[in-house]
Amino acid sequence: MNRRRRIYEGKAKILYEGPEPGTLIQHFKDDATAFNNQKHEVIDGKGVLNNRISEYIFTNLNNLGIPTHFVRRLNMREQLIREVDVIPIELVVRNVAAGSLTKRLGVEEGTQLPRSIIEFYYKNDELGDPLVSEEHITAFGWATPQELDDMMAMGIRINDFLSGLFMGVGIRLVDFKIELGRLIEGDMMRIVLADEISPDSCRLWDTKTNDKMDKDRFRQNMGGMVEAYQEVARRLGILIEND
Ligand code: C5P
Repeated sequence: MNRRRRIYEGKAKILYEGPEPGTLIQHFKDDATAFNNQKHEVIDGKGVLNNRISEYIFTNLNNLGIPTHFVRRLNMREQLIREVDVIPIELVVRNVAAGSLTKRLGVEEGTQLPRSIIEFYYKNDELGDPLVSEEHITAFGWATPQELDDMMAMGIRINDFLSGLFMGVGIRLVDFKIELGRLIEGDMMRIVLADEISPDSCRLWDTKTNDKMDKDRFRQNMGGMVEAYQEVARRLGILIEND
């Protein structure tokens, strides 16, 4: 068996050493976790779907000139990516009130927000990924003011692209989370989109029925998670072949 060097194992993905310096292999597991790992299950087929959906989105973003770490999909569960220095911030863009926003501020779920809202969370499991401000990010040196500007501009562009993409197939993009990293190219350093974009990291509601087509089905014990992810893939016209 091919013994690859494992660089990092997270809740839903494993990173292995890549075939060339500066590359990694991102492996999508079937594990679903929520509430900072307090709820954990293995959902057959989830990794395959997220690998394929994330490939589709990252390829489109690359084609639009939004730089990402994605190089190409290798097989059903793995993709080749560029190695980046991950910024320890999760950037959330919200269009409709849901999730932690509704709990924190008492806004009713489903309320259309007057404009898209960007939030930042400090990636730290021990602290439960706390909400932080731009001031915290620059004061603690997690990103420079210029990097923060680039991150927010990317978040807005990605929101515009994804909102349109999903609207075209009858899905409302409620919110999503992205992670960003620094990529060094010669003597240039730039911010690129990293990690994944999938129904694990977005809230997606059917525009007609408001049915949830995302990880909230798992968080809220609704069942039908894989079926919902399959429906997202089907509407995007993505074929899940057996390779
Ligand atoms: O829980 P909350 O409402 O803050 O989540 C906002 C968005 O970010 C949701 O789409 C959720 O799926 C995503 N998220 C994520 N990973 C986290 C926290 C939130 O993908 N650790």
